[in-house]
Amino acid sequence: MIPYDQMTREDLLKEKESLVSAYKKYEKMELSLNMARGKPSVEQLDLSMGMLAPISHDEVIDVDSGMDVRNYGVLEGLEGAKKLLASMVSCDPNSVIVCGNSSLNVMYDQIARGFSFGYLGEKPWSKLKKVKWLCPVPGYDRHFSITEHFGFEMIPIPMNSDGPDMDLVEEYVKDDSVKGIWCVPKYSNPEGIVYSEEVVKRFANLKPAAKDFRIFWDNAYAVHYLYDEIEKQDQIPDILLECKKAGNPNLVFEFMSTSKISFSGSGISGVASSPENKKDIISSMTVQTIGYDKVNQLRHIKFFKDAAGIREHMKKHAKILRPKFLCVINTLERDLSGKNVGTWNNPNGGYFITFRTIPNVASKVVSMCFALGVTLTGAGAPFPYGQDPKDSVIRIAPSFPTLEELQTAMDVFTLCVRLATIDEILKK
Ligand SMILES: Cc1ncc(COP(=O)(O)O)c(C=O)c1O
Repeated sequence: MIPYDQMTREDLLKEKESLVSAYKKYEKMELSLNMARGKPSVEQLDLSMGMLAPISHDEVIDVDSGMDVRNYGVLEGLEGAKKLLASMVSCDPNSVIVCGNSSLNVMYDQIARGFSFGYLGEKPWSKLKKVKWLCPVPGYDRHFSITEHFGFEMIPIPMNSDGPDMDLVEEYVKDDSVKGIWCVPKYSNPEGIVYSEEVVKRFANLKPAAKDFRIFWDNAYAVHYLYDEIEKQDQIPDILLECKKAGNPNLVFEFMSTSKISFSGSGISGVASSPENKKDIISSMTVQTIGYDKVNQLRHIKFFKDAAGIREHMKKHAKILRPKFLCVINTLERDLSGKNVGTWNNPNGGYFITFRTIPNVASKVVSMCFALGVTLTGAGAPFPYGQDPKDSVIRIAPSFPTLEELQTAMDVFTLCVRLATIDEILKK
């Protein structure tokens, strides 16, 4: 097979002709398929239906605190829920505060606290001329929306295969207007990268100029393995412990969530940090709320019980997700291998596959797919301000459609990649 970039103009035009006729067939099909957001499928959500079983009168008294979970109180959350969340990320349960149905909300609140009140007596960021934030790219669009919303200047940090470029991070934190960094350390959104031990340790040993610099360690996919056998290999060190060992106990906030374990948007979330940071958070949280939803915490404790319960449950998710990831990878290989039209990753876990087109093609692919009824995440979304400098990154989210729908969506995707690439080459 001759790669597209080495074909003659005539051969490219011939190839285009046959692709255009396939495109026209799809036009008539009036498809409506969505690979845009990392949403669990109905089948995955059904796995947790047992959680909605009635709770008996005997069970509403929390075994650890003796409190009635239906009533106000226990701001930090039930001990059982702390243990459950801590077990997912292998941290000390005492460092955890259990929050509500969305970890993103907790991250927003944590930034809002830095902005309005300042961390541990430091000047609130709202009073500073400039606040800068490090953003590993490609990254999670909703992280970037938060820091954009607060008016921070976002600085893209390229991702390597083992995490963000730490040389650059270490350089940037010498600037005291740099106040934080977004991190998804395991099965990163969207590339599925797992940070190496070395990267985690370099994070823990950072020496930022700003005392109120914080690592926002969003460990959203800590237990989201696609294959049983990789669990051991893909473990990462406990960042809280590493920061403590490095003499930097206050450097990090770690976030966790059951959104993609139980119910998306109706799970439980948490933040873990040092005793000092925890006290600081609680001092503002206690004004903000009398307490989060402990009935939902109890549901989670009852349903999952412990780390082993979560592990078994995640195997059921993996069984549903694995064929979908394979469908994406196999279709990319079948249609695009050897054509020099792009590259893709094959992650061991998480929710996404990232496809990289040749420069200047990603947004064209997304709009061509959309015209055929296949919705993808907007090109540029995984970058601060929605701007992909090379216009080449496309995030594929295979979880929500059925396998059959996904196959059709991927057939359309690879067709559009080929067509858009040929058009780009022919421009030159
Ligand atoms: C990295 C990451 N963090 C957080 C979230 C959202 O979590 P939650 O539902 O707990 O707000 C997502 C959802 O896609 C995510 O990918």
